[in-house]
Amino acid sequence: MRPFTPISLLALPAALAQKALTSPKRGLVYVQTENPSDDHYWTTNSDLTWYYNYMATPTSALSGTNLQFVPMLWGTNNGDTNFYTTVKGLKDGGMNITYVLGFNEPDGCVSGGSCVDANTAAQVWMQQIEPLKNEGIKLGAPAVTGSPNGFTWLQNFFSACSNCTIDFIPVHWYGNFEGFASHIGQVNATYQNISSIWVTEYADPTQDLSDAQDFYNQTSSFLDRVPYIQRYSYFGSFRSDVSNVGPNAAMLTQKGELTDIGAWYLGQAATGNVPKGDAAKTAIFAGWALALLAASFCYVA
Ligand SMILES: *[C@@H]1O[C@H](CO)[C@@H](O)[C@H](O)[C@H]1NC(C)=O
Ligand SMILES: *[C@@H]1O[C@H](CO)[C@@H](O)[C@H](O)[C@H]1NC(C)=O
Ligand SMILES: *[C@@H]1O[C@H](CO)[C@@H](O)[C@H](O)[C@H]1NC(C)=O
Ligand SMILES: *[C@@H]1O[C@H](CO)[C@@H](O)[C@H](O)[C@H]1NC(C)=O
Ligand SMILES: *[C@@H]1O[C@H](CO)[C@@H](O)[C@H](O)[C@H]1NC(C)=O
Repeated sequence: MRPFTPISLLALPAALAQKALTSPKRGLVYVQTENPSDDHYWTTNSDLTWYYNYMATPTSALSGTNLQFVPMLWGTNNGDTNFYTTVKGLKDGGMNITYVLGFNEPDGCVSGGSCVDANTAAQVWMQQIEPLKNEGIKLGAPAVTGSPNGFTWLQNFFSACSNCTIDFIPVHWYGNFEGFASHIGQVNATYQNISSIWVTEYADPTQDLSDAQDFYNQTSSFLDRVPYIQRYSYFGSFRSDVSNVGPNAAMLTQKGELTDIGAWYLGQAATGNVPKGDAAKTAIFAGWALALLAASFCYVA
């Protein structure tokens, strides 16, 4: 845990020092960074209940914690050819797997999208994902980008995969709160036969700090209030100097301290720590293979 810092806390207005609301819906988008020492934040004094890491297998640093692992079949060409066998093996080995996630941004062919066409995805779904239904696991639809292309891709997938069982729809959003709320409302209205939505990546990228915090607060109360939102995970859990969604959206500062957003997300009091960017480092981060996998296509409305 971070040492208590009485001086910065005393300097804060009383309202800022209040503990933020916790939520059982909240989870972690786990992004591996060059600072594994940051991992303890997600499991210590944290209200997070689940995580995903864009992979079929769990992250060792989070094993044995309270965070429930949600496996993902990221794409068809990343070695996850035995997704079914891998997930069944984890469950048979005693892991409490109750949900899986389908493809990550299959409509995106740059910056982290898995670039899979809807027909191929439907075939792979029937082989690798659908049989998990028999294991009592709930199945999340492919998580498309928030762009109009994403919507079209999802409609094509539903047509191609008429025998697929979709238990919930994951949604990604990069943009402002009005766009976020209207996008989620559109998904809910289009798929009235599917009872829940997970928001598995969202942020308002490259805003100034007060706008980033305002977006964070507005989305938190929306996500907690709306009954058909079952789970959500904010993007993201990395330091501000390597953030590819702008420094102010990050949960950690460049020094690896919790930002206000980071602390609020974990159900803790504001820290007053101000995140700073580093243009040179962000470029390096964007080039990392794993970061690329994790970073989503940023569609700004
Ligand atoms: C966001 O919410 C926190 C409490 O969770 C509050 O202290 C802070 O003032 C709010 N910030 C904005 C910009 O609304
Ligand atoms: C498994 O996880 C679910 C949440 O998905 C929870 O409701 C259930 O109690 C957990 N079961 C065990 C045995 O921990
Ligand atoms: C749910 O509704 C969508 C949109 O109308 C449709 O494409 C899909 O086949 C339906 N799924 C089920 C399981 O009924
Ligand atoms: C869906 O299932 C039905 C009945 O099992 C089968 O006849 C049909 O071919 C299947 N459709 C697809 C697209 O797999
Ligand atoms: C979401 O869809 C349900 C039907 O499944 C509907 O009753 C509800 O009004 C919708 N909510 C919004 C905010 O559109």
